[in-house]
Amino acid sequence: MSTFWNWYVALLSLGTLAAMAWLLFATRKGQRPNDTEQTVGHSFDGIEEYDNPLPRWWFLLFVGTLLFALVYLLLYPGLGNFRGLLPGYAYLDNQARTPFATDVQVAAGERRNDGWSSVHQWEKEMARADALYGPIFARYAAMPIAEVAKDEQALKMGGRLFASNCSVCHGSDAKGAYGFPNLSDADWLYGGDPETIKTSIMQGRQGVMPAWLEVLREDGIRNVTGYVRSLSGLNNPDDIPLDMAAGEQIYATTCAACHGPEGQGMQALGAPNLTDRVWLYGSSFAQIQQTLRHGRNGQMPAQKDFLGNDKVHLLAAYVYSLSQSPDVEASE
Ligand code: HEC
Ligand code: HEC
Repeated sequence: MSTFWNWYVALLSLGTLAAMAWLLFATRKGQRPNDTEQTVGHSFDGIEEYDNPLPRWWFLLFVGTLLFALVYLLLYPGLGNFRGLLPGYAYLDNQARTPFATDVQVAAGERRNDGWSSVHQWEKEMARADALYGPIFARYAAMPIAEVAKDEQALKMGGRLFASNCSVCHGSDAKGAYGFPNLSDADWLYGGDPETIKTSIMQGRQGVMPAWLEVLREDGIRNVTGYVRSLSGLNNPDDIPLDMAAGEQIYATTCAACHGPEGQGMQALGAPNLTDRVWLYGSSFAQIQQTLRHGRNGQMPAQKDFLGNDKVHLLAAYVYSLSQSPDVEASE
């Protein structure tokens, strides 16, 4: 926030507090000390108002709220550029995993009191959790992934990490969604052995399926769509005119380089197998046409700087364990 708005808000808050205090003491002044039967003379529909002082408890409560507000303003940042009396530290080595941009720049290893902020509080709690769980993560990180995948406690921890970091995209049951691969079946874009799963999570993945509309035109897109669907035994709609031989020709010259001559895919590129019945972007004629016209660009975010090696190791074990007992219906 700019300095102007900082001071604008600060003066508004302090001004309001001062005005409330003034109001409280001004109305108290000149009041009689004790209750009385006398009224102030106002009468509303026959209801009259006694001329009594403010109840003591009410007065003290009001003073209490004013004091609370003042103490709060002193402890937390907010008054202009004043950072508040509560300590808060920014650490550079924590910034890599801080999802929020902090407005302070701190040199590596330096520790600088920078006032309380929710970012620092979050960092502190993460540091506390790391100190508590770090050794457990480290112990698992030293074991082979396939071993970790047999450890019940490890899988529980992996499951919790998955729920908070991965389920937004892959689903809480890891069965994926449109554009997000199912991780619980035996079908892999990049490979399902433990180390490859770990690499997928650590480094992230970018699927690059080029757009073909300009090259193939609608005719070519339609024919190769028909051919691709036939690879996995799908029947094409009768009302769409198709030249399957032309489609096969296009496939061989344009697509086979990435998806393989038989359409079995290529894990080095993340090019999906087109002969199974697992589809990332849908299998209807219209959906495949759309995939071919404009291309697809699935993005798996890299976790190495965010979660770090030890947590990713546990996650890899968790994901690997899911695919070791694949759900029968999941692969359909
Ligand atoms: C922002 C969404 C998003 C989040 C969050 C996310 N992923 Fe992914 N993930 C993807 C997408 C999209 C792909 C497919 C990439 C592609 O199309 O090439 C993918 C691919 C993968 C793969 C490779 C699958 C294969 O078939 O080879 C693995 C393993 C994986 N993710 C695990 C995880 C784990 C574990 C987490 C949690 C740390 C996670 N993902 C978080 C979107 C996400
Ligand atoms: C440069 C390599 C490359 C070429 C060439 C290529 N593809 Fe792809 N294709 C991919 C990749 C990688 C993906 C996965 C995209 C993603 O993960 O977001 C993909 C995805 C697809 C999909 C979606 C599969 C699903 O599960 O939803 C279809 C269908 C497809 N390609 C068909 C074709 C056809 C037909 C051609 C030829 C006209 C072709 N591709 C050419 C790399 C390629």
